[in-house]
Amino acid sequence: MTKLSQVPLKGYTIVKELGEGGFGTTYLVTSAGSKNDFYALKHFNFPNQEPKKYATAQRLFQREVAILKTLNGHSQIPDFIDYWEEKQEYYLVQEFVPGELLWEELEHGQKSETYVVELLTEILQILRVVHSKKIIHRDINPNNIIRRSCDRKLVLIDFGAGAIQKVVTTTTSTQVQTPPTRIYTPGYAPIEQTQGKPQFNSDIYALGITAIQMLTGIEPQDLQVDNNGEVIWCHLAQVSDRLIDILCKMTRYDYRHRYQCVDEVLEELNGTSVSNSPTQVLIRTNNSHPFQAEVGQNQINIILFFLLGCLSVIAILSAAGVLPGNINLQPENQPSRLQSQGSMPMNGGKVL
Ligand SMILES: Nc1ncnc2c1ncn2[C@@H]1O[C@H](COP(=O)(O)OP(=O)(O)OP(=O)(O)O)[C@@H](O)[C@H]1O
Ligand SMILES: [Mg+2]
Repeated sequence: MTKLSQVPLKGYTIVKELGEGGFGTTYLVTSAGSKNDFYALKHFNFPNQEPKKYATAQRLFQREVAILKTLNGHSQIPDFIDYWEEKQEYYLVQEFVPGELLWEELEHGQKSETYVVELLTEILQILRVVHSKKIIHRDINPNNIIRRSCDRKLVLIDFGAGAIQKVVTTTTSTQVQTPPTRIYTPGYAPIEQTQGKPQFNSDIYALGITAIQMLTGIEPQDLQVDNNGEVIWCHLAQVSDRLIDILCKMTRYDYRHRYQCVDEVLEELNGTSVSNSPTQVLIRTNNSHPFQAEVGQNQINIILFFLLGCLSVIAILSAAGVLPGNINLQPENQPSRLQSQGSMPMNGGKVL
């Protein structure tokens, strides 16, 4: 694959290589105007001796350009800067996001439930916008999410995976390519996507798998699946049943049994944080919701009713003269009514 070191790049200068995918290489570059402005330049370098592959790869580039233009201005997606074509090679310049990939964060060790709930919430909120523009990302994984250093926010990158997914050069991944041009990241792509029919909730699946990887520290291709194709992972992480349920539903083998849209997942995640958060519970207690007021009033009514009942019983017993207090109230020289009736011999309160 041609490297860019000697190619004139419309005034951009290469600082270093950032990463290499199947269809090209991404570089950190500066612009001629300002040496302090950094950009990410993606060079799509297609094998034009293979016309079919070249055509699909060209579509891949055009798709990424179109998507970045559509999503331009979103604070957690790199801004589109420029693109051009030269000698049947393609160049895309985008905002450079300084930070650490989730993949690199994972090298510091597997992550907590709190970390993962925040990760899910943040990426789902980005996906809500992406999906609302009728775009499926198709390649969510820890290599395509950057934690921006300046504000610790997550940024979603690499919108290049299209009708043809990115090339993976490992032996395992080349074995799973069917048909040859449909290449995907093994483990993150759900079955319907590998069969060329990605759904919006294919992104939910990939995000769920990413979350499981962050919790367990295990790469998805190393996780077992059961006879129904469901990923077996719960025994590998210490998390609440609630999060287990959410992640299992995000990663259902059959997309019809998954969450259908990101809002469904967000609702359940928010439910988790509401029930777990002491602050929220406090707010709920102080809430003057009519239902809660009604419940409070009912409790008071029951207590009052009970007290009145007790008082009535005491009054009746008192009137009947059967209360111990009545005995004491008798003049000392007079036997109590009970004693006089001889029905209940008293001896120090004990029944003889
Ligand atoms: N806008 C950006 N800001 C900072 N770094 C970036 C940016 N875009 C890409 N990178 C870096 O370059 C790498 C490759 O870029 P990208 O993911 O877009 O291409 P790719 O060909 O799919 O590569 P990969 O196989 O790693 O996913 C990323 O993993 C990231 O480290
Ligand atoms: Mg990538």
